[in-house]
Amino acid sequence: MLIAHLSDLHLRDHGDVAALEHQLDRIAARQPAHLVITGDLLDRWDPPLLERALDAIVARDLFDADRLTILHGNHDLSSSGGHPRRTSDLWRLVLRFWDPPPLVVARRRRFYEIIEKRGPGVASMAPFVKPLSSGWRIAVIDTVPAFWRPLTVGRQTITVRHAVGCVRERQLEWLNGLDGDGPLLLLVHHFPLDPPQFQWSPTGALRHLVRDVRVPMAIPEKQRQGFWRVAAKAGTRLVLCGHVHRARLEWKDGIPVGLNGQSGADWAGRTIAYYDLARTPLVQVHE
Ligand SMILES: [Fe+2]
Repeated sequence: MLIAHLSDLHLRDHGDVAALEHQLDRIAARQPAHLVITGDLLDRWDPPLLERALDAIVARDLFDADRLTILHGNHDLSSSGGHPRRTSDLWRLVLRFWDPPPLVVARRRRFYEIIEKRGPGVASMAPFVKPLSSGWRIAVIDTVPAFWRPLTVGRQTITVRHAVGCVRERQLEWLNGLDGDGPLLLLVHHFPLDPPQFQWSPTGALRHLVRDVRVPMAIPEKQRQGFWRVAAKAGTRLVLCGHVHRARLEWKDGIPVGLNGQSGADWAGRTIAYYDLARTPLVQVHE
């Protein structure tokens, strides 16, 4: 069974959707059993652009619950956008880097309404699980937090929290009580191991005020420990994720973790990752 994996496409305009269409053509030609998109399909909250991306998927007959699963990442719901291309993007990044939690919650609901309107079962508010005709099950856990406090300010250090992940206790309880005995493919947006944190040290006059700006990307370690304990018990055979803009396969307690956070990056060749679940040991193949 071949799984295709996209993540972090960060679509921002119609040109980016054209690039997605090209990727979808390549994927459709390989005829994978399932395509997963593990978040940050959009660079920032943009319902019309989400509709355009869904049009592209539907046009290639990939929009089917047995063949496609989509989950949101932090960028899909945020106002800021990620990587500035124009001056206006830079101002948006600075002025709108934080969204109040009720807005994030409303956007999350709307994100799934837009997808579910196209057909049931492709995406749903996490946690959710669905059986596939192959006998595998797909489960999704939401690792995107909503913060009232977007910044932590210490002695000459600012920690920006918008990229940090979380694993909520209630979602772990749900996973812990999951029924069914098929092998489990578990999807999350954040990399559930220990990623590097982004750090920037200002120079010049600004350095007298701020020595370090830190942007942690990890799920806190205690929550990660709970995640792995429950994931193993639930029969997880593979975890797929994005968020960190790298591509690699790692292992945690015998469970492979496929990270493919560079599907939208020009420098990475807009990476598509493939996993043949019948192959042992599992490998991540890029195209
Ligand atoms: Fe991302």
